Amino acid sequence: MRSQGCSAHHRQGSVRHLRLGAVALLALSAALGSHAVSLHQRDNLQNSSDGSSFVWTIQDTYAGKTFFDGFQFFTFGDPTHGTVNYTTADYAFANGLAYVQGDGVVVMKGDDTTQLASGVNRNSVRISSWAQYNTGLFILDLNRAPWGCGVWPAWWTLGGGQWPYTGEIDIIEGVHDNEHNQVTWHTGANCSLTPDFENFTGTVVSTNGQPNLVCDGNANGNAGCGVTEWSQASYGPTFDAAGGGVFAMKWDDEGIAVWSFYRQAVPADIVQGEPSPDQWGPPVAALSPTACDPIANFVNHSIVFDITFCGDWAGNSYATSGCPGTCPDRLMDPANFVNASWSINSLKVYRKVPLSKAVNGAQLRRPASTIVALVLTLFSLVFTAL
Ligand SMILES: *[C@@H]1O[C@H](CO)[C@@H](O)[C@H](O)[C@H]1NC(C)=O
Ligand SMILES: *[C@@H]1O[C@H](CO)[C@@H](O)[C@H](O)[C@H]1NC(C)=O
Ligand SMILES: *[C@@H]1O[C@H](CO)[C@@H](O)[C@H](O)[C@H]1NC(C)=O
Ligand SMILES: *[C@@H]1O[C@H](CO)[C@@H](O)[C@H](O)[C@H]1NC(C)=O
Ligand SMILES: *[C@@H]1O[C@H](CO)[C@@H](O)[C@H](O)[C@H]1NC(C)=O
Ligand SMILES: *[C@@H]1O[C@H](CO)[C@@H](O)[C@H](O)[C@H]1NC(C)=O
Repeated sequence: MRSQGCSAHHRQGSVRHLRLGAVALLALSAALGSHAVSLHQRDNLQNSSDGSSFVWTIQDTYAGKTFFDGFQFFTFGDPTHGTVNYTTADYAFANGLAYVQGDGVVVMKGDDTTQLASGVNRNSVRISSWAQYNTGLFILDLNRAPWGCGVWPAWWTLGGGQWPYTGEIDIIEGVHDNEHNQVTWHTGANCSLTPDFENFTGTVVSTNGQPNLVCDGNANGNAGCGVTEWSQASYGPTFDAAGGGVFAMKWDDEGIAVWSFYRQAVPADIVQGEPSPDQWGPPVAALSPTACDPIANFVNHSIVFDITFCGDWAGNSYATSGCPGTCPDRLMDPANFVNASWSINSLKVYRKVPLSKAVNGAQLRRPASTIVALVLTLFSLVFTAL
């Protein structure tokens, strides 16, 4: 083209000018309308029961090198009477109980190197988010959750006020080499599970043949109201062997629900960071707003991870668990705790944003200056081409 005559160049140039001008105009209109376009293209529009629409929008990401910045280490005695020494942040980092791998994976573990005398507490970690939440969608992507005889880990949220009146939501919890995760709520006096009115795939936990429908933490020896997942890949060896997966807890004015997905079944919308709980099918466990006000009974929740040993659940159930010997004996040998570790890719908290506000948010994220710069770039490309 450049070698052709001047007039030909100008004729062809003006045709190109028109074509590129049209492209620039299209780009301009796309840029100006991009907030509307991007929202229409979003797959995670959700419908409220009142008919309004909203999206779950990222609020906090806990991952990689900054993961632990969002948490404080709990160093008190275990309220659930575990034979555990919850260590300080400094001690945990210095002794390999909490660290971030080079690839950004976050690890927390029980001590698996120290031989202990009988009855001595085993070192471990319990952390609690500085941030407190009042509703949200909490999505944990993990490779491994702790398990093993005598081991009792949990990923849960805990109310900021007097327990149990500000609520506790146990999202991942299990003991020994169990293969079924248990979801449990502990609350004040006004909450119960209503399996007849909620569709969930898990089974209500029973004590002495009676389903634990009462969530009151002051009743039934603090059994709470719990649901056992049907999937064998939801906790323990099978979950870890499958490469872990994703757990999600949705808490809003429509209640509280938990889903779990082993690695091969994680929905694409979660991977893409545009979660659509509406599309996930029935949850594994759900607490209906009709029998438990999810706002009044759950207040100022921090996100907690812990690993304890023996204690109220793992200790009291040890004799009937099929595990060898006794829980105190089991605790002495560090080789018994090689699988007592969390391996976490990310923890993301999403908040509900009504559609009208989401449009405003999209406009804010793509300010006029960005659009002007884009248009100027396109026009300079046009003139350079000429
Ligand atoms: C939300 O409501 C709209 C309009 O009623 C409907 O077309 C859409 O399928 C609904 N989406 C979901 C996920 O239920
Ligand atoms: C318990 O943890 C603290 C750090 O939080 C540490 O200084 C102490 O040595 C630990 N106790 C034992 C018995 O290991
Ligand atoms: C929740 O946190 C807010 C802000 O810190 C505080 O004002 C309120 O009293 C807390 N509520 C409860 C029930 O602890
Ligand atoms: C339980 O419900 C009663 C009556 O609605 C109310 O007065 C009381 O404050 C509630 N208690 C809690 C712990 O939410
Ligand atoms: C639960 O599922 C059944 C069968 O699919 C359906 O008829 C019922 O409306 C559902 N209940 C709720 C609360 O979604
Ligand atoms: C740790 O996990 C591996 C792989 O599942 C298993 O073979 C081993 O027995 C486990 N060890 C303990 C102490 O649980």
